[in-house]
Amino acid sequence: MGISGGIAAYKTPTLVRAFIKQGAEVRVIMTPSSKDFVTPLSLATVSQNPVFSSFISEDQDNPLWNNHVEMALWADYMLIAPATSNTLSSMAQACCTNLVLAAYLSSQCKVFVAPAMDLDMYSHPANQKNLETLSDYGVVVLPTEEGFLASGLLGKGRMMEPESIIAFMEKDIYKTLPLKNKKVVITAGPTQEAIDPVRFIGNNSSGKMGFELAKRAADLGAEVILISGPTNLSIKHVNIKLEQVVTADQMFESSKKHYVDASVFIASAAVADFKPDNNATQKIKKGTGFDQINLLPTPDILAYLGKIKKDQFLVGFALETENELENAKGKLESKNLDAIILNSLNDEQAGFGGNQNKITYLQPNVNPISFELKTKQEVAVDVFDQILLKYEKLS
Ligand code: CTP
Repeated sequence: MGISGGIAAYKTPTLVRAFIKQGAEVRVIMTPSSKDFVTPLSLATVSQNPVFSSFISEDQDNPLWNNHVEMALWADYMLIAPATSNTLSSMAQACCTNLVLAAYLSSQCKVFVAPAMDLDMYSHPANQKNLETLSDYGVVVLPTEEGFLASGLLGKGRMMEPESIIAFMEKDIYKTLPLKNKKVVITAGPTQEAIDPVRFIGNNSSGKMGFELAKRAADLGAEVILISGPTNLSIKHVNIKLEQVVTADQMFESSKKHYVDASVFIASAAVADFKPDNNATQKIKKGTGFDQINLLPTPDILAYLGKIKKDQFLVGFALETENELENAKGKLESKNLDAIILNSLNDEQAGFGGNQNKITYLQPNVNPISFELKTKQEVAVDVFDQILLKYEKLS
């Protein structure tokens, strides 16, 4: 991250912290004038890395050359925030008067700039031309925001807020990932079928496997719709839209709606197969007696989607307690799936509730692939590795 000398530099420790929270590793380079707005010590502390601002280290007794080329090549992405008029102009002209500019000019990675300046300065044709030039060179120019500026004037020119910068960059980066422009729909968790307003038929599914699959798909660049029954889990990811449902019927409606333009659909939900047929509107009292619940079948969501399948890659789960492979193969065929993930309740530590799972991945006319016991996060990686292999073959 390169920081140049504008008042918005005071927001950069927050920005660095937000990157680190997202799992990034951050190294900061500063222009000399940015040190008037934010201290290298703050940035070194939040980035957990030394901060550099000149070509030569400041240790007079032991001067060292700060290798801007190494720093630039180390990065997967470079962000210059705030990018002042001066810095943008120098970048456009290949003017190499400080370490930030030198690192930018030697970088091979994608570079983002978050301009920050006064409104008239920002709209000046020279600045607009520089931004255009930088765009032509492949630099991604983040939009500025409207608001009160350091001059007291109100208008466009404020640096984008740290949270928005992260969201913008994430969206942009995802475009280069293998599932970019692909919609992945995942069902997760249990469904609950009401007996009366306080009781339901449900199951022990925690939703963890489905949520991990959603995260993996999103990390691979997909737009993810996660249709989940009631769980204790939460998820926050720019590419994941969580649709919360309660019943099998609701999950069915939501699945049909999103299946139409989905590239991949994974049914990891433990859908209740039956629902009470007379869902009482008042709590059933102990005294009135209660010896029988009449059940109706719920829609088999996956079987329905298999029937109407066009180009979607349809993946199911099979949770079995006996004749595992045989039952899973049966479901693969009868539900017209492209793959089914078998997990057995007989595998210790695997399956419902826990953080681990042990799966076998089955596809039509291919030998089943069995994986070791792994965390659900790792299982999600394996599942998408398999799906992507197929994608490559298809394309
Ligand atoms: N499934 C579904 N809708 C249902 C039942 C199951 O979409 N009403 C999906 C599950 O999400 C899973 C797959 O079908 O991907 C297999 O679910 P499973 O419970 O293992 O099997 P069932 O089809 O319900 O058959 P059985 O209960 O007889 O094993």
